[in-house]
Amino acid sequence: MTTFYVTTPIYYANSLPHLGHLYTMIVADTIARAKRQRGIETLFLTGTDEHGINIERAAQKAGRTPQEQADYVVSYYKKMTAAFGLDGEHGGYDIFMRTTEPFHYQGVSEFWRRVAKAKTPKGNDAIYKGHYEGWFCAACAAYKTEDEYQKPKSEGAAPTCLIHDTALDRVSEESYFFRLSDYDDALLSLYDGRPDFVRPESRNNEVMSFVRGGLQDLSVSRLRTSVSWGVPVPDDPDHTMYVWFDALINYITAIGFGNEERERTFGFEKYWPALHLVGKDILRFHAVYWPAFLMAAGVELPSAIMAHGMWLDPTGRKMSKTIGNTVELDVLNRHFSVDAIRYFCLREMVFGQDGRFGYEALIDRANSDLASGLGNLSSRTLTMISRYCEGQVPSGHIPEEKLLLAKRTGVDTDETTVVGFIEHARDQFLQHFENFAFSRALEVAWSVVARVDKMISDAKPWDLAKDENQKQTLGAVLYRAAESLRWLCVLLYPVMPEASRSIWSQLGLTQSPASIDPGQLKWGDLVEGESIGEVKPIFPRIDKAKTMAEIENDSQPRGVHLTEADAVPGAATQAELKPPPPMKHATEADAVAGAEGLTTFIEIGDFSKVDLRAGEVLSAERVPKADKLLLLKIDIGEEKPRQVLAGIAQYYEPEKLIGRKVVVVANLKPRKLRGFESQGMVVAASFGEEGRPVIATFTEDVPNGARLK
Ligand code: MSP
Repeated sequence: MTTFYVTTPIYYANSLPHLGHLYTMIVADTIARAKRQRGIETLFLTGTDEHGINIERAAQKAGRTPQEQADYVVSYYKKMTAAFGLDGEHGGYDIFMRTTEPFHYQGVSEFWRRVAKAKTPKGNDAIYKGHYEGWFCAACAAYKTEDEYQKPKSEGAAPTCLIHDTALDRVSEESYFFRLSDYDDALLSLYDGRPDFVRPESRNNEVMSFVRGGLQDLSVSRLRTSVSWGVPVPDDPDHTMYVWFDALINYITAIGFGNEERERTFGFEKYWPALHLVGKDILRFHAVYWPAFLMAAGVELPSAIMAHGMWLDPTGRKMSKTIGNTVELDVLNRHFSVDAIRYFCLREMVFGQDGRFGYEALIDRANSDLASGLGNLSSRTLTMISRYCEGQVPSGHIPEEKLLLAKRTGVDTDETTVVGFIEHARDQFLQHFENFAFSRALEVAWSVVARVDKMISDAKPWDLAKDENQKQTLGAVLYRAAESLRWLCVLLYPVMPEASRSIWSQLGLTQSPASIDPGQLKWGDLVEGESIGEVKPIFPRIDKAKTMAEIENDSQPRGVHLTEADAVPGAATQAELKPPPPMKHATEADAVAGAEGLTTFIEIGDFSKVDLRAGEVLSAERVPKADKLLLLKIDIGEEKPRQVLAGIAQYYEPEKLIGRKVVVVANLKPRKLRGFESQGMVVAASFGEEGRPVIATFTEDVPNGARLK
């Protein structure tokens, strides 16, 4: 095979990306670089999924058109992919696909027409018109069966999505159906005949048992009156294609299916089939629906579908915007080098399984494996070559007459030992890499780092340097270390392109590690007598306490979403972009424009009408049949604690609030909620698309009942 095509999912253009989205791009980028190193013509596709009700809704909420919403998110993606070295400029993706591009419409329409004419393996029409009624999750863009939703807690309410915890929509309308139920046998024989089609194996088993459980036909259109933001069904513009139908087809329209010009530029014939990298949450769409669609359209199936696990937070919860525990890309980018992030993602998550991400864990790994590990090995080796060998690569050869002398210092005079070790490590590394076992591959690479480090520490070059008779022994030790580093640069290039390039040029090498096939590495290609480059630190140590404090500070919610606003100059209003005027005194309310940049002023007298008090939460419990409410008892220095209902149950565990200092609006007219009287209000900031609350508190001691003014 001389060409290779790898894809990430295309990301919904309704919200800004986080670590979960970045991860698949890092994996795809790593694989693409590894293929390119071997001289394989490689195409790497990523992009955005821009249709569907979810994007329509997000746009509406943000006061934009769906196209503006998509443009806005895409501009952020482009900015971030560049910052993380994943774009074309940095040797990353070849195509950033957008499903709103006209060539995609053209290709998708061609695909639909083919499927509409096709017969299923059981001889029926692949597409038919019917009527659909069911619960639809806008966030998943999928209908939900009974085992995929949470039954409503109160009568008349809608069930909620198990993934998103949001209410489902009842949908009942005319729809085109794809006769998926006729593809069960064809799919099962596909999985049987190609055990590597869906990987890892555990996921393959899941997919097979899902198909064995029986397939239901799939509604593949919605009436334009309900969902207009999508590709119209050819010859029936009253229908809009189901967003997943158009999204999956992006993998072939991007490279020229249904569009000659794109075919000429990229080459569907040349590159298809692809390796699809997907999160396990969207495996069914790729491993069941997509092959069935392709069978119907008479298009070759993908080469394989690899499903990775989910990034969880340090406590094991899935990252989600609703919980507010996602890792924001701009925060990550500001505090860590791209290579440290790439290394962490690939080392920490066993591909296929879930992994936990925490800033502290990232700092620990960066300090131990990178700063003290590879970085230290590189700088000590190069510094010693510069100090003891006049900055020139020494000879790795110990002459006959010096062998005994060398042996006495404990240095292994037989070079084949180290060569055998590193060759074996290289083979293992590549084998793990081929199997997507990046974490194990990196473990192997670090066994080389440890071994070479130990060789240096045992040989004590600083002592050898004192004895002129040991000059060759010293040279051999440093040569072995430098040559091992050269090998490591080639092996690690796909994972850490920048660091590998840097060590490479510090070794005085010219050709890039980006184009050296690791399988062809030969011991001894580092040329004796060549000058090394300037020695520079590669992975500076990270001060954990300082960085954690900076991240904490950086992650604080702000009234204005600066990171979002600067994604698209001009997309946000001037008022949003303008920072609030400086405050003279925090209590001088009349000097302050609102956090949103509003310029409606109030008199100090207006403000003093609000009786704000410091209080302490004495108890907190959930309110039966009300998902959002917590019932709090708060001591605000009065005889009896206040009973306050707060709509924060989705974000705060009740027991964690006990003892917390809060700010209470004490003169709010009491009102009844769900049968309980609420005697005040807890003050909280509200931010993000979901209006996530963050309770206001004090960092210094304050007595209960103290007035805020
Ligand atoms: N638009 C669809 C994909 C269509 S592909 C034809 C979609 N988009 S998504 O933006 O919701 O998700 C894209 C990818 O991000 C999925 O593979 C998903 O698994 C991944 N991740 C989102 N959150 C994640 C984590 N917390 N961890 C790891 N990956 C996760 O689905």
